[in-house]
Amino acid sequence: MVSPSTMAAVRKSGAIPNSEFLMTAEGIRKEFPGVVALDDVSFRLKRGSVHALMGENGAGKSTLMKILAGIYQPDRGRIQLKGADIRLDSPLDALENGIAMIHQELNLMAQMTVAENIWIRREPLTRFGFVDHAEMNRKTAALFDRLNIVLHPQTDVGELSVANRQMVEIAKAVSYESDVLIMDEPTSALTEREVEHLFRIIRDLRDQGIGIVYITHKMNELFEIADECSVFRDGRYIATHASSQVTRDDIIRMMVGREITQMFPKAEVPLGAVVLSVKNLTLNGVFKDVSFDVRAGEILGVAGLVGSGRSNVAETLFGVTPASSGTIAIDGKQLAIDSPTEAIRNRMAFLTEDRKETGCLLILDVLENMQIAVLQDKFVSRGFVEESKVSAACEEMCRKLRVKTPSLGERIENLSGGNQQKVLIGRWMLTDPRILILDEPTRGIDVGAKAEIHRLVSEMTRNGVAVIMISSEMPEVLGMSDRIMVMHEGRVTGFLDRSEATQIKVMDLASR
Ligand SMILES: Nc1ncnc2c1ncn2[C@@H]1O[C@H](COP(=O)(O)OP(=O)(O)OP(=O)(O)O)[C@@H](O)[C@H]1O
Ligand SMILES: [Mg+2]
Repeated sequence: MVSPSTMAAVRKSGAIPNSEFLMTAEGIRKEFPGVVALDDVSFRLKRGSVHALMGENGAGKSTLMKILAGIYQPDRGRIQLKGADIRLDSPLDALENGIAMIHQELNLMAQMTVAENIWIRREPLTRFGFVDHAEMNRKTAALFDRLNIVLHPQTDVGELSVANRQMVEIAKAVSYESDVLIMDEPTSALTEREVEHLFRIIRDLRDQGIGIVYITHKMNELFEIADECSVFRDGRYIATHASSQVTRDDIIRMMVGREITQMFPKAEVPLGAVVLSVKNLTLNGVFKDVSFDVRAGEILGVAGLVGSGRSNVAETLFGVTPASSGTIAIDGKQLAIDSPTEAIRNRMAFLTEDRKETGCLLILDVLENMQIAVLQDKFVSRGFVEESKVSAACEEMCRKLRVKTPSLGERIENLSGGNQQKVLIGRWMLTDPRILILDEPTRGIDVGAKAEIHRLVSEMTRNGVAVIMISSEMPEVLGMSDRIMVMHEGRVTGFLDRSEATQIKVMDLASR
């Protein structure tokens, strides 16, 4: 069957769809002020295939895909859809030609329902011309049914977890019945079970002949889901290979142009006194009776499925949502932490999992974002902030984390996703915290920078910082934690020591 979108493409380009490739881009160049994001790049997507894009943060992956999805216009180059030249002037234009993209940064409207978000600007109407909510909810339910997604169409998106929002974005893209589906790090907020679910959806779509572009930093996903893989480095195209023909090390070498020796450079440091002690912490209806201690120099990993309450506990510790009952003590002294200001005053730092909503201040530049939490004693002399000291420290941090930016004055929204994350991590590291809470710290971060972040966290533990690290990435939890606390549905189901922890034990506790 020829889908309506295919017909639209044929009408628009006047070509008969017969090329081996669904979509191709040749000689693409794209410049932004101060950056050549893409330089003479090529890419070819086959029908019925999953094509992974790999490359370090800032390599140009998202930019290339935004060009294929009509969001950016290339400065130079040629794009073909089913063998015919095409010009995509807008995202709508791309959608009408059967190209849909799921963005790296989620784009849903929090104050609208799930159904309204999915059918926005193409709502079914009643014969009087009003939005037919009943029909819209029915269509949403049918779509979710087909994709096995268990969500209510009338829930406000603002109430959903990041993972569920990601599932809604995926459903929305699928609902356009496109021939080309571009996914930019779709699993960054999903845990293993949800990733499996997404992979089932992807395989299904692939078997229907859809071409899927899949951007990821997770090497295991590449081998599990992708048929082919193209690697980019610094805005240049490096190579394309069948994923069965390459190894993990081959890919890393192509990506970074150097060897990466140690993935989880955990420092073995002697543990000090208990810094943070949490007893029977409860947030009514969200989590209950959470108790744990974290010592100086210790990394407490927190594992669990999405929705297990891990991030909620972190938010309560940081005073975002004060607890209903239970106690928090720092250095043995019980404290009422009822606001983030109070938490920061007690030298806590919190890297949130959702960088767009609570993390970055998108209108500020790199420097401003970094220094925001730094305005403290070490940069203040006789009541004045020593600007030069602050920028020197920020500059140094950017260098350590290899933040790719034209300058510290660049607006953060212009940075690639992974580089935004690096700026946020840098910000908290600069505050010299005693308690560092990291929620999915290396989400969307490339392999090289990931190792660097792990090294920096390790270095901080050596200086006696107590770290709580929430992570859905099993190798990271197992590689970095001294102890792992596992949660399920708002309760702690167990603790595992570094020496005894295995993926199976963690998964077992996570589903209890
Ligand atoms: N709108 C923009 N304005 C200015 N510079 C931009 C803009 N979009 C991207 N860039 C720059 O272009 C380069 C490529 O960015 P891109 O987002 O394509 O990288 P990426 O490969 O997707 O990285 P990541 O893995 O971190 O998501 C980066 O240096 C980025 O800072
Ligand atoms: Mg990107």
